Amino acid sequence: MAIAYNKRTCDCGTLRAADVGQSVILAGWVNNYRDHGDNLVFIDLRDRGGLTQCRFNVDTDPDATKLARTLRKEDVIAVRGEVISRGENVNPKLPTGEIEVSVHEVQLLNKSLTPPFEVADHVEANEDLRLKYRFLDLRRGPMQKGIITRHKVLQAFREFYYNEGFLDIETPILTKSTPEGARDYLVPSRVWPGQFYALPQSPQLFKQLLMISGFDRYMQIARCFRDEDLRADRQPEFTQVDLEMAFVDVDNVLDVVERSLSYVWKQVIGADVPTPFRRMAYDDAMRDYGSDKPDLRYDLKLIDVSEVAKKTEFKVFTDAIAKGGVVKAICLPGGAEMTRKESDGLTAEIQGIGAGGLPLCKVVAGAGGKLEVQTGTAKFFPGELGSELIRVAGASSGDMIFFAAGKFADVCKHLNWLRTTLAERRKMIPQDRWEFLWIIDMPAFEWSDDEKRWVFMHHPFTMPHDEDLPILESDPGAVRAKCYDIVLNGVELGSGSIRIHDRSVQSRIFRMLGLSDEQAMAKFTHLLTALQYGAPPHGGLALGLDRMAMLLANLSSIREVTAFPKTQKAFCPLTECPSEVDGKQLDELGIDLNAATKAKRKGK
Ligand code: AMO
Repeated sequence: MAIAYNKRTCDCGTLRAADVGQSVILAGWVNNYRDHGDNLVFIDLRDRGGLTQCRFNVDTDPDATKLARTLRKEDVIAVRGEVISRGENVNPKLPTGEIEVSVHEVQLLNKSLTPPFEVADHVEANEDLRLKYRFLDLRRGPMQKGIITRHKVLQAFREFYYNEGFLDIETPILTKSTPEGARDYLVPSRVWPGQFYALPQSPQLFKQLLMISGFDRYMQIARCFRDEDLRADRQPEFTQVDLEMAFVDVDNVLDVVERSLSYVWKQVIGADVPTPFRRMAYDDAMRDYGSDKPDLRYDLKLIDVSEVAKKTEFKVFTDAIAKGGVVKAICLPGGAEMTRKESDGLTAEIQGIGAGGLPLCKVVAGAGGKLEVQTGTAKFFPGELGSELIRVAGASSGDMIFFAAGKFADVCKHLNWLRTTLAERRKMIPQDRWEFLWIIDMPAFEWSDDEKRWVFMHHPFTMPHDEDLPILESDPGAVRAKCYDIVLNGVELGSGSIRIHDRSVQSRIFRMLGLSDEQAMAKFTHLLTALQYGAPPHGGLALGLDRMAMLLANLSSIREVTAFPKTQKAFCPLTECPSEVDGKQLDELGIDLNAATKAKRKGK
């Protein structure tokens, strides 16, 4: 029998006790069916709104019940019936649990094959299979929640920025490479044989040009493409909430961004996020946390113990200091109870990321309650030296002190790993806390040992601090940038900066980075030309939309909030791309694959 499924009365998550007695039409997927064998069949009908229990009674509706008995999971049906009370059999776990629909008519709209994994909240299937059948995976409750959260985040950002007078302007996808630190995805041109477009790593230069065009206050929900090593919080294509403003300095940008984040958190999850956010200088973050994106939901600061360590006879410590390095420590409250197995495990893991080992000692109350160090490296801290270590580390009885020694950057890397690992494994991270943090005053450049040259920390269009301009060439390592990162619970949400609007400063920066004036002009003609035609002071920032949606939906990978993501190897199991193309297409593009590529391609 045909049911007017295009006239659904509501979705499957709407009906409540107050609706009892109403005639309804619902449509959706068979989530579950239970055949009671006698006269009753129950089907949980699912759509994006939720689940409604449908009841089929052979005595009153024999045809509908007969059809219901043939239905299987994921079949698509429409039902017409009456809302009735479940009486005593209320299901408190379901929002619609007080009612059910007594079905008078049912129509099978489409059969489904048996799905390769169960469409349920919890799924055992591996991620490749889930991605291959993404259209089924997306039917699952947590996935729907993630995608809907993402939509709400988008909507709230747009609302906020539109209300603040930002103009939404699209920028090209087929464009010229912008250096954001990753490899470009290239698109060969047919019309211009041998020439390539690059997919944008971000709209950076276009938004700067828009400021020069006078479109003060630009925003865009921008797709970005970067060919880089993927992780849980990195995809080859991702989305930024991208913005730029003219006639601003750092404080104006931070103000509007933090108000937007506070607005979005309120709209999406009802959380009150007070502004202004805390600010921390980059050097302080590295000193205290060994990270430029510290998670401030817990303490566990890094403590410099070099002064005490250099008085010991422990070669690991004294050698590190003699070579200009540092010895730093983390004091874990209550850590003395850690088992040997656990600390040996941590040692092996930290060695895996390049540390020589994990020196440690326990702090215990000895005779007369006096604190002393025991086990591990304790023998290198005899008597007063032990007391000095305990004092500097701020340790109490029952604590464990872990050390790292070596170059400052290595010590930061190793202790940052230890800090986050200890906090996670020992459940020290309070949930439902949003610790927003600005990292400011980053260095403009860092020395690349690999490339033997200075490289930019943010991007080469970032304005140095005015007072550091005189030392740009003479002491690049000391130049700070008008650059800021927004960090939330240890995740970098976004980055931005005040840009260079003075052509001569921009040219000096390019030279610093090893680009001759000719090379710079060839790569950035559009920017360098535009900077000469009245460029206003400007700055902006881009927020990673995927990361924000992931955190707001309480998920641990951005793949969970991306409808059709790629695997860690940048492959899409659903569409099976990247894939080979016709020889004819390659011919048109003037592309001839070399023998090595052909051989590799066969092995894919
Ligand atoms: P940046 O390169 O720091 O800055 O990027 C800004 C934010 O984008 C997100 N992000 C990513 N998210 C998912 N997958 C990726 N591969 C990925 N790469 C970056 C992060 C990051 O903080 N044009 C500048 C911004 C500016 O200066 O205005 C830029 O793109 O959350």
